[in-house]
Amino acid sequence: MALRSYSRYLNLKNRIGIPMNDKKAVKAVEVKKLTYQYRPGGPLALKDIDFRMNRGEMAAVAGLSGCGKSTLCMCLSGAARYNRDGIMTGEILLNGKDIYRTGTTGHAPEVGIVFQNPDTQLFSFTVEDEIAFAPENLCLPPDCIRERVEDVLNLLGIAHLREEHPCHLSGGEKSLVALGAVLALDPPVLVLDEVMCRLDTAGKKRVKDVLRKLRDRGKTIIAVEHNMDDIAFADRIIVMGEGKLLCSGTIQDCRRTINAIYRAEPGKLLLSPENKVGLIGD
Ligand SMILES: Nc1ncnc2c1ncn2[C@@H]1O[C@H](COP(=O)(O)OP(=O)(O)OP(=O)(O)O)[C@@H](O)[C@H]1O
Ligand SMILES: [Mg+2]
Repeated sequence: MALRSYSRYLNLKNRIGIPMNDKKAVKAVEVKKLTYQYRPGGPLALKDIDFRMNRGEMAAVAGLSGCGKSTLCMCLSGAARYNRDGIMTGEILLNGKDIYRTGTTGHAPEVGIVFQNPDTQLFSFTVEDEIAFAPENLCLPPDCIRERVEDVLNLLGIAHLREEHPCHLSGGEKSLVALGAVLALDPPVLVLDEVMCRLDTAGKKRVKDVLRKLRDRGKTIIAVEHNMDDIAFADRIIVMGEGKLLCSGTIQDCRRTINAIYRAEPGKLLLSPENKVGLIGD
């Protein structure tokens, strides 16, 4: 294939834009009896987590602080393999691949994660380099890398930051850059740990629009957020409590569980029977 047409074939618009007609046929995520301990003899941060997701599905993960949301993200992304003391049991299959039984190169293109604290993942000297890192490591042709970087910068509205050092950015800008770096990898499964919590209204709207678009085009998205309003457009909610999966289903299916766990939290969101989100005391 000529370089130019190869580049066009691989460019972000086309690759992210592949419509998946068989969306429901393939299990994109299968988590089976997953448990996790950060150290031998330590408490279980995850207890028997079991769920499945279809391709093109978006799940929101909710639950109080410390319930295991970030631990689940870490396990789903394959990052748990780098904690030498950690003990994981159970199985995680992404598009049929057991990511802990393949080498790093096996799972890397399958999943991308934005960590809760973007400072832990940004390492380049400029925003542009940060976003180019994944496609460069996929050994894509240079014009394809440039095209991807431009697409991602424009998609997330951060083109004006391209020359900036990531450590000089605001928290919200850092989250957008970390998300951009993952989008440039273009994995089929995206794990996002509180990516919207530092964004202003315009930034949230932009990210929501991008996530809707990606979902429609077959990406499978797991997004942790504390603010139910930010993830109300997800297909399903996974509610966690004390390391366990308490409920998984539509907002309506999980309404009682969500209200029960958040009731004691002043200022947290409650869900009315009409599925309206309101503050406690409203
Ligand atoms: N590196 C670590 N070493 C040991 N224990 C940890 C580590 N990180 C998290 N934990 C523990 O694992 C449990 C789950 O933590 P986790 O960060 O997954 O919660 P979370 O639901 O993401 O909370 P938050 O909403 O505050 O981000 C907590 O009890 C926490 O103290
Ligand atoms: Mg967390």
